[in-house]
Amino acid sequence: MGDYSLEITDLTKIYKTPGGDVNALLDANLMVKKGEQVAVIGPSGSGKSTFLSMVGLLDRPTRGDVMIDGVSTSKLGDKGLTEIRRKKIGFIFQQYNLISTLTGRENIQLPLYLQGKSLDEIDKKINTISERLALDEKFLEHFPKQLSGGQQQRIAIARALVGDPAIVLGDELTGNLDSKTSEQTMELLKELNETMGLTMLIVTHDMHIAEYMERKITIRDGRLYENG
Ligand SMILES: Nc1ncnc2c1ncn2[C@@H]1O[C@H](COP(=O)(O)OP(=O)(O)OP(=O)(O)O)[C@@H](O)[C@H]1O
Ligand SMILES: [Mg+2]
Repeated sequence: MGDYSLEITDLTKIYKTPGGDVNALLDANLMVKKGEQVAVIGPSGSGKSTFLSMVGLLDRPTRGDVMIDGVSTSKLGDKGLTEIRRKKIGFIFQQYNLISTLTGRENIQLPLYLQGKSLDEIDKKINTISERLALDEKFLEHFPKQLSGGQQQRIAIARALVGDPAIVLGDELTGNLDSKTSEQTMELLKELNETMGLTMLIVTHDMHIAEYMERKITIRDGRLYENG
């Protein structure tokens, strides 16, 4: 594989609405090297979530291509996209998106089950990630509603990382956390970047959060601008 986790070419999303076309993302080009940390910053409505859902293969662009870990996705069918999403991408959302009927541990296990990993392998990976994230054993046995927001986000981060993704994507990932927990969460991600070489792309409207990432890009009216 090459040096890039992510290569985005002319990525465009135009939403057709009764009120006319909405140009939510226009000709975005971006290369993200392995191990890079990138923040995309923009105000409400600038296209951040649209951009992230294209990059995360959650929705199809109007045109353009997203290459993940050297694999072009523009010509893939739903099955191919799902496979890349499961194997290569870790998501961290503002609302954590944990499954409420599963314990913390089961939530973290889920992506590995979906990848068809053996029970032995799953156990090993859960142990490794729990250590890396300093996850308290007892929190692993709790259901999401028994955990604080910060604890839930930690479980969500573990779930995003446990399958060794090529890239981790975050959408306002500290949006529901108080400022102290937000800082701890960002510190943790930075540490994981240093220790595991984690590649990260986050979108946020919060300049303070963006400051944790070494590379910053502004999005305005669906267009990307490299800062500095
Ligand atoms: N499914 C959709 N159909 C039509 N228009 C949409 C759709 N999703 C988003 N848009 C429009 O595209 C533009 C970009 O929206 P997007 O949600 O990507 O912004 P955002 O930067 O994530 O905003 P926020 O910070 O409020 O989350 C907005 O004008 C929005 O109204
Ligand atoms: Mg958004």
